[in-house]
Amino acid sequence: MKPELGVCFYPEHWPEAQWAEDAARMRETGLSWVRIGEFAWSRIEAEPGKLTFDWLDRAIETLGAAGLKVVLGTPTATPPRWMIEKHPDMLAVDAQGNPRKFGSRRHYCFSHMGYREESARIARILGERYGKNPHVQAWQIDNEYACHETTLSYSRAAVEGFRDWLAQRYQSPEALNRAWGNVFWSMEYADFSEIDPPNLTVTEPNPSHVMAWRRYSSDAVVAYNAAQVGALRPLTNAPLIHNYMGRVLEFDHFDVGDDLDIASWDSYPIGFLSDRLSDSPEHKRRYLRQGDPDMQALHHDLYRAVGKGRWWVMEQQPGPVNWAPYNPAPLPGMARLWAWEAIAHGAEAVCYFRWRQAPFAQEQMHAGLLRPDSAPAPALGEAAQVAAEIEALPEIRPAKAPVAILFDYPSGWAWETQPQGADFDYFELMLEMYRGLRKLGLSIDILPVDADTSDYSLLLVPGLFELPDTIKAKLAARDGITLIGPRSGTRGAEFDIPVPLPPALPSVDATIALTESLPPSAPEPLAQGGAIIRWLERLEGTAEVVEETASGQPVMMRSGGLHYLAGWPDAQALARILSRACAELGIETRQMPEGLRLRDTEGYRFYINYAPEAVAFDGLDIPAAGVAWKEKQ
Ligand code: GAL
Repeated sequence: MKPELGVCFYPEHWPEAQWAEDAARMRETGLSWVRIGEFAWSRIEAEPGKLTFDWLDRAIETLGAAGLKVVLGTPTATPPRWMIEKHPDMLAVDAQGNPRKFGSRRHYCFSHMGYREESARIARILGERYGKNPHVQAWQIDNEYACHETTLSYSRAAVEGFRDWLAQRYQSPEALNRAWGNVFWSMEYADFSEIDPPNLTVTEPNPSHVMAWRRYSSDAVVAYNAAQVGALRPLTNAPLIHNYMGRVLEFDHFDVGDDLDIASWDSYPIGFLSDRLSDSPEHKRRYLRQGDPDMQALHHDLYRAVGKGRWWVMEQQPGPVNWAPYNPAPLPGMARLWAWEAIAHGAEAVCYFRWRQAPFAQEQMHAGLLRPDSAPAPALGEAAQVAAEIEALPEIRPAKAPVAILFDYPSGWAWETQPQGADFDYFELMLEMYRGLRKLGLSIDILPVDADTSDYSLLLVPGLFELPDTIKAKLAARDGITLIGPRSGTRGAEFDIPVPLPPALPSVDATIALTESLPPSAPEPLAQGGAIIRWLERLEGTAEVVEETASGQPVMMRSGGLHYLAGWPDAQALARILSRACAELGIETRQMPEGLRLRDTEGYRFYINYAPEAVAFDGLDIPAAGVAWKEKQ
């Protein structure tokens, strides 16, 4: 199948007389998909039970008649005002105990059973009406779970759900007390009904308590999503999709993804660089109008894993957004580059957000493919160019990468619960490892912990808080090189320190004797150059030392292919460690020019230039914000 382009459209925002022309222009641009409906609950059901479908019937018919395929959203991210009257306790409650009010979106608590049933009800009603509609060829369930920090809710419903969950997991309060170590500070419970979520405590709560709360809250998202899946499945054969976000680790996406057919995500490269990356001001200045060169690719690879190979970009930034601290416009070419990069990583579809800029409400400063007056905005021509280029190319089939990284959502919760150093951040650790590999010109696969890794000669396992013996045995049995750490395997499932002390890898005699975190002013220089930053563990044992500090303290030890890395390497040290591993394995690496990245598919090598200047490489001249590709020899 060829990749396709699409757009997000809100028929309810525009006069009906305009729809047919809009649809025709979408087709002229070369778009195949149009996503609609995901916020339209108040127009579908203005009062409880009073359903109005004629406008939606006509919208779907108009779009479909023009040759567009519709992704229909369930509108559950925007419960209408009457819903709050009906279920006053459905609002999410923040950690301070305040209800999150009506007046924007995502104001519901995942644990509220009444709202969960309402969500399944509206999904069922839509499924009954449109499940077999030939124009509705995919469904989006809800919109961006967790966006606006909405996973953790401290409502009554969540408290009750948490207690039930705890009772099932631990069976008795004694077992829970033992697992969490509640004898410490006299935190022991006599009954599950005494246990609250871990908010508003005087000083930090027990990390085991927090981890249990995070697991419960993630499971609530999974159950909420499953309720809508359960309603829709019997009514449609079209794929069910959710649109995830960038750098959101609040719930386990692999668990949600298990119930869906396709993973998608919403890619806002310039907004993300501005508001969710901690890179240096120089880096942010250089990539101001392009976005970080590795942030999008990492998510593409992650969501490909969440979707078990099937994934889309459901929302692609087209121009300035409205929500970051500053909102610069993309360099000319970026709306094309971002789409091609996604395609090179295997996206089945890339949909721009949104068709026309809205002149009203919260997102009036958010660009679309059209201006509010319907004149083309800069991204329209770039989308048309991508569509024409896709036409001209044969199919693009993803290739398996030579290198993989394991990604684990609970590890994100673990290190947020107990960072120990202010900048120990799981996502950033992942991103730096990923970036280190990409700077060597490599393509990467991201995998969940239980994946089969036997096909990858190099595997990285950074910051995976828990390494059960079964996983350790699997990793130890691998051929090739497995690079574990920093901090991997340093906690048990209940967030305890295991004994024998970590990492306790079979066959590698190396033990963490002491752990320290390092402020940015105190990097620890390494003997071969570069430094350890943020995190350093002191290793003792007899395994072979591969990296050590300038003062002779071991930092990386190995036995055969199994390595333990006892610190967070800076870019220079990481480049050496990764290059050495690749050289040993015969994996070809390149020194990539600043901002240029490669991605291999089965037939092609893609060159993606995030740099603000032109680059000459492999006989190609790639302009600033340009993309090029070559058939692979
Ligand atoms: C996404 C969201 C869209 C829109 C967009 C603006 O997070 O799904 O509805 O708000 O951001 O950039």
